[in-house]
Amino acid sequence: MTVPLQTRQGLSSSWLADVDLARIVQAVGTPVFVYSAEQLRRNLDRVQAAAAAAGLQDRVELYIPFFPNSNPHLLATCREAGAGILLQVPAEYKLLRTHGFEKFIVSPGHVSDDEIAFWADTGCPTFLSSLDEISYALQANAPLIGARIDSLNSGKPGVKLDELGRLAQLVADYDRDLDCFEVYCGSGNTCDDMIEVIKTLFSMFKKHFPHVQAVNFAGGHGFSYTEWEEDAKHFNWHTYLGALRQIMEDMKIPDHVRFMFEPARDMLADTGALVLSLKRSIISNPVANIVVTDGSRMLMPSAQLRDRRHNVTFLDGRMQEITADEGQWAAIRGRTILRHDYLLPGEYWVPDGVDAESFMAVFDVGVYCATQHMEFLNVPPAAEVLIDETGEANLVTARGDEFDKWRHLLPAKQPLPLSI
Ligand SMILES: Cc1ncc(COP(=O)(O)O)c(C=O)c1O
Repeated sequence: MTVPLQTRQGLSSSWLADVDLARIVQAVGTPVFVYSAEQLRRNLDRVQAAAAAAGLQDRVELYIPFFPNSNPHLLATCREAGAGILLQVPAEYKLLRTHGFEKFIVSPGHVSDDEIAFWADTGCPTFLSSLDEISYALQANAPLIGARIDSLNSGKPGVKLDELGRLAQLVADYDRDLDCFEVYCGSGNTCDDMIEVIKTLFSMFKKHFPHVQAVNFAGGHGFSYTEWEEDAKHFNWHTYLGALRQIMEDMKIPDHVRFMFEPARDMLADTGALVLSLKRSIISNPVANIVVTDGSRMLMPSAQLRDRRHNVTFLDGRMQEITADEGQWAAIRGRTILRHDYLLPGEYWVPDGVDAESFMAVFDVGVYCATQHMEFLNVPPAAEVLIDETGEANLVTARGDEFDKWRHLLPAKQPLPLSI
């Protein structure tokens, strides 16, 4: 069979082409997540340049979500670029403080009173997701009152649209103003969708919360996993922020109101690639053709869950890309016995020449991949390597060793304390 047109591009359209993969694999083995600080810098610069072009550089604030990647060494680039970090749980705050991060906002989901008190003590703007939680923050006299609004009326945490009048009344009852609100509007939206969302948020501002200091547009800015070229993959911030400027003027949004954004996918997805070893030549049986890798679906669980077709390429034992025109379609298996242990949904085009000495790279794994995986059915988690902006490769997360699954197992049974 001859290579289908849409699979022709490969390594050369990624920063990974300039990385000495042979050295990394020799040093830390596979599977390994490789990240590029330079790519993250480019992604942040793209937004900051678009904000400047729209004359909004002093009003646009970026807060990159920590939970979709969670490696402070990679996210250090955000800190250096002046971007803050969006947090979700207290441990993230404690960890990032030890890494020198200071600029945070918090979107914690639904939480206990104790956790609301924790965040109030930090002074970080916190977006609470129900009237009940906001009521507690008001009673506790939290320094800032923030609300997370679910504009889709979905199952995600957030004050629902029908509750906005009650929210405004609740805050007024305590003689306070809402300081800021964050609006969830789904993920993977087009630029046109997101421009419509701007109008929705500004209408909420005008109708219910005209005294907030900041409007938080959250995430949802689309990123294409199936495109190869950078321009085609990324959200068009230039058009988007230009439209924001226009709508802001048309709707007479006051000059002091700041605009927050929490993009994860568009900032982080193409900063990461996953490199796997192949363990055998393709297995062909009456049911399927199978590529056997040393990965597992738990390295990137949302690919299967969301039916996400990440781009991939295959490399030979010397890390040269295999570009043969002939090949076959095959499923990409992980290394456990589990029936559903396929790394990626569907089948992928595998060129002739791929064999037990080969490697495979999966692109755009900088979000919701290493952050979600763990030792899975006794297979240890992968290493993480960061290529810094000088091109130097550093190990930033050690590979779990073969006994990782049992790292907390006690050598002997330990009686529980008798008095509880
Ligand atoms: C509160 C919040 N902010 C930002 C994001 C990032 O969204 P995206 O990856 O669509 O940019 C998410 C994703 O779930 C989120 O829940």
